[in-house]
Amino acid sequence: MAILKIARMGHPVLRQKAEEVADPTAPEIQQLVADMIETMDDAPGTGLAAPQVHVPLRVVVFRVGAHRSTGAPDDQPEALTVLINPILEPQGEEQALDWEGCLSVPGMMGAVPRFTRLRYRGVNEKGEEIDRTVSGFHARVVQHECDHLDGILYPQRLQDLRLFGFSDEMKRAFGGNDDEPDPD
Ligand code: NI
Repeated sequence: MAILKIARMGHPVLRQKAEEVADPTAPEIQQLVADMIETMDDAPGTGLAAPQVHVPLRVVVFRVGAHRSTGAPDDQPEALTVLINPILEPQGEEQALDWEGCLSVPGMMGAVPRFTRLRYRGVNEKGEEIDRTVSGFHARVVQHECDHLDGILYPQRLQDLRLFGFSDEMKRAFGGNDDEPDPD
């Protein structure tokens, strides 16, 4: 395993559309997933997408921490999800605004609108199918990570640039709490 270098906003790999994974169970994908988990946990971050470690493939990993889950039946803590070749289907039009950070945009945070309910499908690194309908933070982190696969960083989703700034200043201004999220 290895801790990989994280690409920062401005690097071309973060702007390109990532490729489908032909064989999610291939040895090189196992290695990539293991390295992504180690890199995410070292950062630390809540999630990580392969383009963030300079690999343009449709692979994301994330955790839904107990301190971030809303406790709703479809937003429970999730120890670790490996999601390959994801397909996202928002459920309804409702969106919500909440703070996000990103390991590729270090030291910053912004209030990003996301669909509140989401069905997502894909496979994990064992080739097992994933099909979940989720809400709250779980839905948010999946949308954030999968945006990376289409070359989109959260600042591109901002509707009000006044709600974007350095994390320490924003927490001071908007009363951030101690369990401020790890970046995605
Ligand atoms: Ni991110």
